[in-house]
Amino acid sequence: MEWDAKKYNTTHDFVFKYGAGLLELLPKEPKKVLDIGCGTGELTNRMAELGHEVTGIDQSVNMINQAKESYPDLIFLQEDILNPSDQIGLYDVAFSNAVFHWIPDQELLLKNISEHLNMKGQLICEFGAVGNVQMIREAFGRELNALGVPFEEPFCFTSVEDYRILLEKNHFDVVEMLEYERPTPLKGQKAGLREWMEQFYASELGELSENQKEQLFVNMEQELAPRLWKKDHWEADYRRLRVNALKR
Ligand SMILES: C[S@@+](CC[C@H](N)C(=O)[O-])C[C@H]1O[C@@H](n2cnc3c(N)ncnc32)[C@H](O)[C@@H]1O
Repeated sequence: MEWDAKKYNTTHDFVFKYGAGLLELLPKEPKKVLDIGCGTGELTNRMAELGHEVTGIDQSVNMINQAKESYPDLIFLQEDILNPSDQIGLYDVAFSNAVFHWIPDQELLLKNISEHLNMKGQLICEFGAVGNVQMIREAFGRELNALGVPFEEPFCFTSVEDYRILLEKNHFDVVEMLEYERPTPLKGQKAGLREWMEQFYASELGELSENQKEQLFVNMEQELAPRLWKKDHWEADYRRLRVNALKR
């Protein structure tokens, strides 16, 4: 999926704003940090401001170009963490916000991260936990199926228990893990839910005609309003998983 970097920075800026809490898990002394799936580079820049030597990688051309435009003094590489090139190198910390749930092959992800970490290197990440945006996902799946379009869940949301097993199997010791509810107000008033879907379900919506898309949006808004419309904005039912682990 390709990202609309300008829209991401304006309409969906909640992603990195909430992600800022993860910065508290970073060591206080300067470290070499790899920001995996850095997007438009906002958190990469925050880490550089904290004194760390940071490299941001992202597979999206649009996101990396926006990051380079916003922060020309920082290092950003267009790289897929599932197929990294030799130019990435070794780091003390692997950091990642709101990325892991986009990656189906978690074993390969953790193996590649481990290969780019020094001994005792730290993994700090946050992504969707099991049940994340469940009401939206279920309604979206139903609407797509009603249009005769099969819905394959693009996200990999997991639990503390399951992810702990995966981390330990892949040579990480867990320092701390946390699963929590994070109801998230969406920008754009009435259009907030459809704008969220336009970004996060871009691939699936690209399969529909304009009429079908409009009908899907209207149906979903009607169905979800009693639970997710909060007087003047939509509130997405986010659940997050936060991980702090050390390479064994
Ligand atoms: C929701 S954005 C989060 C961006 C940024 N971390 C932030 O907090 O704003 C998810 C990002 O993960 C990137 N991504 C997804 N899969 C990736 C992969 N296999 N390798 C590198 N980047 C990936 C996407 O291109 C996208 O920019």
